[in-house]
Amino acid sequence: MTTQDYINLEDKYGAHNYHPLPVVLDRGEGVYVWDVEGKRYFDFLSAYSAVNQGHCHPKIVGALAEQARKLTLTSRAFYNSALGDYEKYITEYFGYDKVLPMNSGAEGDETALKLCRKWAYKVKGIPENQAKIIACEGNFHGRTITIISMSTDPDARKDFGPYTPGFTIIPYNDLEALEKALTSDPNIAGFLVEPIQGEAGVYVPDEGYLKQAYELCKKHNVLFIADEVQTGLARTGKLLASDHEGVRPDILILGKALSGGVYPISAVLADDEIMLTILPGEHGSTFGGNPLAAKVAVAALEVIKNENLAENAARLGEIFRKKMNSVKSDMIELVRGKGLLNAVVVRPRNGKTAWDVCLTMKDNGLIAKPTHDHIIRFAPPLVITEEQLYEAIEIIKKSFAEFE
Ligand SMILES: Cc1ncc(COP(=O)(O)O)c(C=O)c1O
Repeated sequence: MTTQDYINLEDKYGAHNYHPLPVVLDRGEGVYVWDVEGKRYFDFLSAYSAVNQGHCHPKIVGALAEQARKLTLTSRAFYNSALGDYEKYITEYFGYDKVLPMNSGAEGDETALKLCRKWAYKVKGIPENQAKIIACEGNFHGRTITIISMSTDPDARKDFGPYTPGFTIIPYNDLEALEKALTSDPNIAGFLVEPIQGEAGVYVPDEGYLKQAYELCKKHNVLFIADEVQTGLARTGKLLASDHEGVRPDILILGKALSGGVYPISAVLADDEIMLTILPGEHGSTFGGNPLAAKVAVAALEVIKNENLAENAARLGEIFRKKMNSVKSDMIELVRGKGLLNAVVVRPRNGKTAWDVCLTMKDNGLIAKPTHDHIIRFAPPLVITEEQLYEAIEIIKKSFAEFE
């Protein structure tokens, strides 16, 4: 089968809820992926930052294979011999009392919202059904009905109403708006925020935003909930993006790279005062906390520490932005980011857009994807070496040059 045959197959039998770049991937290793014709590419999307540890990391795949031969799923109707070790490992790793294991990032966010509401009624004392959670314009927290009820993106929302109530939406990176929202409503229970807005186009807030937002939340007895599904796990040059400002979220949501990209694993971390408000039967998931996920997550977290991925992301991210800022192209409007979560804002030229740049980069051996038509995110696996990064930058430069 050719590339076009695979594309036709998906087009005919799969829902059209994505618009992929026309490349059919067949194999991956480290920073590279190969298509069905055997052509090699640098992967500069990393499955939206799920493959921070690189494709098919042998330690993570090894943990998966070993556990898969032993026991994969028990449901939480019974205990299993892998979950407790994982729970101990991840809570010590991030410094929280407890973890609640789920699967997708969206489920992690839903879990955090439920936890926040439960805490609001059981601990803070908000009257029943009155709790509100503040979220930010431009947010991306997933695709469930409740989550899109917080979204300000028409593509995510339109024709999916009616929406879940209980959210107050304020501009991102706006402390005044946060303070006003917190002061004007006694029923605010939580503030849900991405430390950097990834899907919106890698918007990095002003320095001090997270810290001051956290302090405002504390002043008003409101939970600071960090969605680190994309920014967490070394992507931005620290273990968590919140670490850049020394903020410890009251509720921390992780996903994506928690499995190194081999399996859907998400987790919500919090201390007992919050986590123990949820009682047996009130929340869960058939697959959340299964032994396969438990072993995979431990291996994925070990790789992040053992291979110093945060340090690598911090160092190589600086190089990436410096080099990209020196590229002379009328199409490059702006380069921004932190660690190895970066974006280039593309100015259309002669009718050519970010999509055309991505097609050209693909032809030249590097794959990345536009977000919101005019922004290209550049987020390679964090195992990338300096030499590989220089090679990749040359491909990006050459591709932009083809439009001059
Ligand atoms: C910040 C953030 N939260 C949540 C999600 C949703 O994760 P999932 O696609 O695994 O449901 C994403 C996915 O891109 C994300 O970037």
